[in-house]
Amino acid sequence: MPARIAVIAGDGIGQEVMPAARECIDALSAWHPLELTWHELDWGSDYYRTHGRMMPLDGLDELARHDAIFLGAVGAPDIPDTETLWGLLIPIRRHFEQYVNVRPARTLPGIRPVLADDRRVDLVIVRENSEGEYSEIGGRFSRGGEGESAVQETVFTRRGIDRVARYAAEIAAQRHGRLTSATKSNGIIHTMPFWDEVVAETVAARDGIELTSVLADALAAALVLRPWSFDVIVASNLLGDILSDLASAVTGSIGVAPSANLNPERRYPSMFEPVHGSAPDIAGQGIANPIGQIWSGALMLEHLGYGTAAAHLIAGFEKTLADGTSTRDLGGAASTREFVASVRTNLAEIADRFVEQAEGSKEQR
Ligand code: NAI
Ligand code: MG
Repeated sequence: MPARIAVIAGDGIGQEVMPAARECIDALSAWHPLELTWHELDWGSDYYRTHGRMMPLDGLDELARHDAIFLGAVGAPDIPDTETLWGLLIPIRRHFEQYVNVRPARTLPGIRPVLADDRRVDLVIVRENSEGEYSEIGGRFSRGGEGESAVQETVFTRRGIDRVARYAAEIAAQRHGRLTSATKSNGIIHTMPFWDEVVAETVAARDGIELTSVLADALAAALVLRPWSFDVIVASNLLGDILSDLASAVTGSIGVAPSANLNPERRYPSMFEPVHGSAPDIAGQGIANPIGQIWSGALMLEHLGYGTAAAHLIAGFEKTLADGTSTRDLGGAASTREFVASVRTNLAEIADRFVEQAEGSKEQR
């Protein structure tokens, strides 16, 4: 049965980078036996302006009938982020127990290095995606009064920490076996020591992983000074959010960073989206960098079992960059469309070569 993909292009540049990624993936199906059906959903801020909500009341039920969710971005300058993010993104992540947020960051060819040192960066941030600092527990008191105050509770559970640490250790085992845990147990004295303890216990249960716990402020500095020294970083919801934007900026631009919101047990659909937001400052100009969306599409293809197609998709935009074509955020002059046209040309070359080699090895046998 074909994989059913729910597509939510969403707001701002989501409407530009989503068609760009779709075009590249559709082009791949000329060479790869991709069985995908796409189901476009017009949810987001325009939907909100008409219906007073970001998605229909039964939106989550509708999404549950899909194998994956491919999302652009949400957020509009005239609607509070509490409505847009908490009306769509966060309910999807929580309802579908997408408790792992995987964010790779690595040096891409042809991108002017941000740092003076040009050693290759290749790291993965595994962010806890369902609890921690992003909780709904709390309130505002004495609004407008002298004693006005706000309280927000951070919630960590043993189950929540254990499962994200286990996933991160698994990824580290498939890579170089080095896992760094972001903490802040010197300042946050209840939840963070608990995080440290459970991460250490979980990782100790697995052979061959070297675990280092690093205070998040020092870790932020280290990500700028020696990002090439990291392999896999596991972090809580808030720390992972901040550190992954930092890591993507260090490797070039937030416009290239992909992410996967995973339900590792596959009981529910996982969601794939670029790290960036709706970028209202450049929306509608046709200059958005589509790499974050395309790379997220590659993570989705991999998740759906199309590893070779995913590798070709990544090689396609890497070759475009290596040839010196890039969008404005990377210092280039290409429009979104020009960039995609070049990726499509490269995909054709890469796939043809792959087919020739496959046939060559058949003949040798
Ligand atoms: P943003 O990521 O939308 O933009 C930050 C800066 O990076 C802007 O200058 C923008 O032009 C640039 N940029 C981002 N993506 C780019 C791309 N693909 N190509 C070229 N340049 C790019 O973050 P910002 O401005 O803080 O948020 C805008 C809206 O997006 C807000 O409503 C925010 O809540 C929302 N947002 C949504 C996210 C999501 O849908 N997952 C994630 C982050 C923010
Ligand atoms: Mg962020």
